[in-house]
Amino acid sequence: MRTLLLLLMACTGHPKPGPGGGGGDGAGDDTAPVGTGSGGGQGDDTAAPPEQPVLPAVPDAEDLDPDDDVVHVRLTAAPATHTITDWRTGESRIVEGYAFNGVVPGPTIRAKVGDRVIVDVENGLDVPTTVHWHGLDVPVEMDGVPWMRAPIGAGETHTYTYTVEQAATAWYHPHFDTVHQVDLGLYGVFVVEDPAEPGADRDMVVVMDDWSELQGDAAYADEVHGAHGMEGWWTANGAVSPALPVVGGETLRLRVLNASNHGYLDLSMEAARVLARDQGLLPALEAVAGEVLGPGDRVELLVQPAGADLTLLDAPYSLNGGEAHGETAARLELPLSGPAAAAADLGWELSGAAPSADPGRTDITWTFQGSMHHDDWMISGERFPDVTIPEVPLGEELIIEVRNLSATEHPFHKHGAHFEVLSIDGVAPPYKRVEDTVNIPLFGAARLRVLPTRPGDWMTHCHILPHADGGMMTVLRVTDD
Ligand code: C2O
Ligand code: CU
Repeated sequence: MRTLLLLLMACTGHPKPGPGGGGGDGAGDDTAPVGTGSGGGQGDDTAAPPEQPVLPAVPDAEDLDPDDDVVHVRLTAAPATHTITDWRTGESRIVEGYAFNGVVPGPTIRAKVGDRVIVDVENGLDVPTTVHWHGLDVPVEMDGVPWMRAPIGAGETHTYTYTVEQAATAWYHPHFDTVHQVDLGLYGVFVVEDPAEPGADRDMVVVMDDWSELQGDAAYADEVHGAHGMEGWWTANGAVSPALPVVGGETLRLRVLNASNHGYLDLSMEAARVLARDQGLLPALEAVAGEVLGPGDRVELLVQPAGADLTLLDAPYSLNGGEAHGETAARLELPLSGPAAAAADLGWELSGAAPSADPGRTDITWTFQGSMHHDDWMISGERFPDVTIPEVPLGEELIIEVRNLSATEHPFHKHGAHFEVLSIDGVAPPYKRVEDTVNIPLFGAARLRVLPTRPGDWMTHCHILPHADGGMMTVLRVTDD
């Protein structure tokens, strides 16, 4: 009896119906979720309709310092069990993973430009870890890479401290056994706000990740691929295809992060616009159509529901130029409640800035190479840590060309200094675009302009984490003499 009850609970373990739930009349098959595999006929009134979860809100990290210009937070990395439930089928996947402060995504750290940030990181894992501040330009000893500084041992606590200088939707994650630790749930968003910008009615983080059956299994520790090749379930803030109810006329700023260790998203959403990518507001708004978001990349969406339900769609995407498999899926649904209302006026001042002119010279060329078959990944013929380290002087503009000669795409990420994208495959963006992570197309190239503002040895790598783990990582030395 007890076993049966537990089983029953496991099968129906989705959130309780909200007010008004389940009261639908008629067949209403236009509201039926995609992929509902129920064999029950529509006359069966004993089967409760599957209940779509609401997008879980990610908690903000508690600021322990009363000073307005200081943000002091505490992160504890520890083992945690994640249960991912597909509400459309009732199936669950249980992952023995990790979490910061017991939640995945970890708490959102919010600071404003110019704030002093102090983060105490307690390592409650039985393996070493670090925290890297992806997208924040911090002093090299605070960058959280074990290249220069020992990781945080099991049971130890380490304090990171730095000042945040640029508005961004950044994120944090370990940089030690990154391929597994990120995949098992250690990540969170770090929002640096610009107080001069008008606030949206709702400013929310939406963290996408995919979860495979293998994650957390005993075999997983030896599995360099992570979830590679396995069918993953995509979640938004931990829920499969949740709903975010909206009202007409409101303005939402959705900060979307792809925290997956290898999976790409190809996003589109009617009536939404791209407000920003990695590093602050863009000079212009763009439609959200085919927004390719590789692992580690972010995009901010400005959503102004007016008179219709909206859906964040993810189309199948091929990394190797072949046919994309699968079907377009709804990653987040935004049902409209209440009356239609016109979208409010935009209060954002977008500068319209044009991209910088490409000076034509190339200071550094990095070429992504390798093959999937042996998990053998290189940059310019070298496999980390056996790499040649170019040295460049502090404060001098650097033109980097990243080429891709392998049969798959790669998201390029650089630590220590963000960059402006001058061109991708020879085409300049329509406006100035500042990033820290950018996708390099198949057999393509990106030209990037960097101003190194901090001395040190800075990691540079592909953010498909199994590729980085397989050697697709190098170092740039910025010298101050
Ligand atoms: Cu998000 Cu070197 O990493
Ligand atoms: Cu790669």
